[in-house]
Amino acid sequence: MNNNLKIGVCDYPEHTVKSNWTEHAAQQKALGLSYVRIAEFAWAKIEPDAECYDWQWLDEAIAVYADAGLSVILGTPTATPPAWLIEKHPEILPVDAHGLTKQFGSRRHYDHASPIYRRKACRIVTEMVKRYCGHSAVIGWQTDNELAHEGTGQSFGGASAEGFPVWLEEKYKTLDALNDAWGNVFWSQTYTSWTQIRPPIQVATGQANPSHQLDYRRFCSAMVESFQQEQIAIIRKLAPQHFITHNFVIFSEETDLYRLSKDLDFVAWDSYPVGMLEFFATWESEEVKTRYARTGHPDLISLNHDIYRGLKNGKDFWVMEQQCGHANWAQYNPLPADNAVALWTAQAWAHGAESVVYFRWRAANMAQEIMHSGLLKQDGTPDRGFNEVNQLDLSSFPLHWEEIDRPKVVMLHDYQSLWAYNHQPHHQDLSYWHQFVLFYSVFRSLGVDVDIKHPSDLDTQDYKLIVAPALTVFDETVNDLIRHSSRESLWLFGPRCGFKDATGKVPIRGQFDGVDDVLGIQLSNVDSLRPGLEQGVVSSDNENTAHQAKFWCESYDLKGAAAKYVYSSGPQTDKAAVTQKDNMVVVGALSQTLLSDVVRLCTSELGIATVPLPQGVRITCRAGKKVLFNFNQDEVMWGEYSIPGVSYRFVD
Ligand code: GAL
Repeated sequence: MNNNLKIGVCDYPEHTVKSNWTEHAAQQKALGLSYVRIAEFAWAKIEPDAECYDWQWLDEAIAVYADAGLSVILGTPTATPPAWLIEKHPEILPVDAHGLTKQFGSRRHYDHASPIYRRKACRIVTEMVKRYCGHSAVIGWQTDNELAHEGTGQSFGGASAEGFPVWLEEKYKTLDALNDAWGNVFWSQTYTSWTQIRPPIQVATGQANPSHQLDYRRFCSAMVESFQQEQIAIIRKLAPQHFITHNFVIFSEETDLYRLSKDLDFVAWDSYPVGMLEFFATWESEEVKTRYARTGHPDLISLNHDIYRGLKNGKDFWVMEQQCGHANWAQYNPLPADNAVALWTAQAWAHGAESVVYFRWRAANMAQEIMHSGLLKQDGTPDRGFNEVNQLDLSSFPLHWEEIDRPKVVMLHDYQSLWAYNHQPHHQDLSYWHQFVLFYSVFRSLGVDVDIKHPSDLDTQDYKLIVAPALTVFDETVNDLIRHSSRESLWLFGPRCGFKDATGKVPIRGQFDGVDDVLGIQLSNVDSLRPGLEQGVVSSDNENTAHQAKFWCESYDLKGAAAKYVYSSGPQTDKAAVTQKDNMVVVGALSQTLLSDVVRLCTSELGIATVPLPQGVRITCRAGKKVLFNFNQDEVMWGEYSIPGVSYRFVD
C-alpha cells in the first residue's frame, strides 16, 4: 500500500438526487480520492421523527461509495438537532451574551450542558454506530462538527447557568476560596451563596470580572469536552476498530483544544485560507489583505497547521475541510487564484497533514451555502478546484514526519493564557493571536520551522529555542519548566508573559512571580499605543540599530539581567525593552523588525540556520524534502530558483 498523502471530499448525498450518486462516486474515485466524509448534518433525515429511523437512504449512499472503492468517514449529526426535538424540548436551545435564547433555523443550536440534549445526542450516536460499525467501507468517525464554533462554545443561560455554580463548588470547595481567587473584595463582588453566581454577562457597566470570565470559559470548555467524551465512549465501545477524530476550526479560541483532543485518535481542522484572511487579519493593512486576497496569508495558514500538528504532540493530523473554490461566509469571498488549491494541498502536507479532504463535492443549490463553491458547480460540471486536484501528483507527498526534520524551535500555546489575554487586552487591536502571529511570522520569514506545544507537553531537551509569544498565565507547570530548564536551550518570552496566574489575577509579587530571579527582571511599566503612536527602541550594543515599536511597549527594571535594547523615546526612555539573563531573553516591545533582530541573535547563538525569504515566499521541510512556496501572484527569483506566482517547488 502506498504511503503518500491521501485526499478525500466532504459529500452530501442528501443534497442531490439519488440518480446522481453512482456517477458522483465514480468521478470521485477517478479523481484520486480515497475518502468521503458524510452525514454530519443529516439527523433530521436519519430520524425524521422521535425514534422513527430512516436508514435506507444512508445505507444506499454508503453502498454506492463502497462499490466505487471509496472509504467513508461518518459524522455524528449532533450539530443539528431536528425541529421536532427542539419543539419538544426548547430548553436545549442556548442563550446568547444578551440573555436571549438562540432559535432553531441554522445549526449548533444547543447548550452542551443540557442533560436532555446529551441524552438525545447519545441516543442518535448509539443508533448510528450500531448501524454502521460492521460496514467494511466505514473507517472512522468525526464527532459532531466544529464544536463550539461560530460563538457556540458558551451558553449563558439554561443548563449552563445552572451547572456553573455546581462546577465552581467542586473546584473551590468554599466560597472564601472562590472570592479570594476572583478578587471579589473589589467593588463588593463577594458572594455569600453559590446560588448567587450567574454567567458573566449583562453586567451594569463595562465587563464582568475577568477571573469570573476565565472560570466561565473553563467551565464551558469542560462541558464541550464531556459532551464529546460521551460520544467517543459510545464509538469506542461499539466500533473499536474505527478511528475517531474531530474537525476543529481556524484560530479556535472557544475551548481548550488540548483537552478536547486527548481522546481522539488524531485531530483534523478546516482550512479556509481566503476566508481566514478577511476574518482574522483585522490589524493588517488593506495592502497586505489585497496582496493575499486570492491565496490567503501563508503564515496564517501554516500557523494553524502547526497548532493542529502539536495538539497531540506532533502526531499527523488531517485537513477535514480544505477550501477548493470561493467560500461564502467572509466579508468578501474572492475566487482563489489559479493553482491555489494545489498550493494549499502541498502546504498542508509540508506541515504534517496525512490527508486533505476538500469541502465540498458539489456546490449546494439550496439554503445558507448557495454561494459556496465545491469541486463541482451547482450544475454538476467540474469547477476550477476539480481541475487542480485532478493534476496533483500524490507520490510527491510521501508520509514520513516523525523520523526527520524535527524543528529545533517550539512555541508554547495555552488556552487559559489566550482567554486571560483576551479578557483584558488593554488595546482594541491587540489579541493573543495577534501577538502570537507576530512572533510566528518572524520565524517563517527566516525559513525556520517551528513546533507549537502546550507547556505540559514540552520536553525542554527536544528543542534549542523555546518561545513563549503570549503566555500570559504562568502556572506551576510553566514555572517548573523555566526553573528546571537546562542552560543548553534558550527561552524567548514576549510581552505580558507571566503577567497573571491561573486565577486571572496578577501574582502577589507581580509579573513573573516565582521565576523573576531566573529572568532577572521586574516589570516597570506597560504602555498601550494608539494607532500612529510609536516608540523608538535601540540596541544597547549598537545605537545604529533602531526600531519603531507599535501597539505595546513594556519596560523592565533590571534585577540581574542585562538590557539588550532600551527605549529611545517616550515616557519609558532609557528603560530596558529587551533583556537577557543567562539563557532567558524577554522582549517587551512589539515591532516586527525588533523581533526579527532578536530572533536572529538567538538562532545564530544556537546554530539554527536562517534564510531570509522574500515577501510571500516560505520554505518548509518534510520527509527530507524542502518545499518552497510562493504566495505572491507574480514570479519570484530566490537564489538560483525561479518560482512562478502561486506555486510551490521542491528544492535541494
Ligand atoms: C465549515 C463547516 C462546513 C461549511 C463550511 C463552509 O466551517 O464545517 O459545514 O459550513 O464551513 O465554508
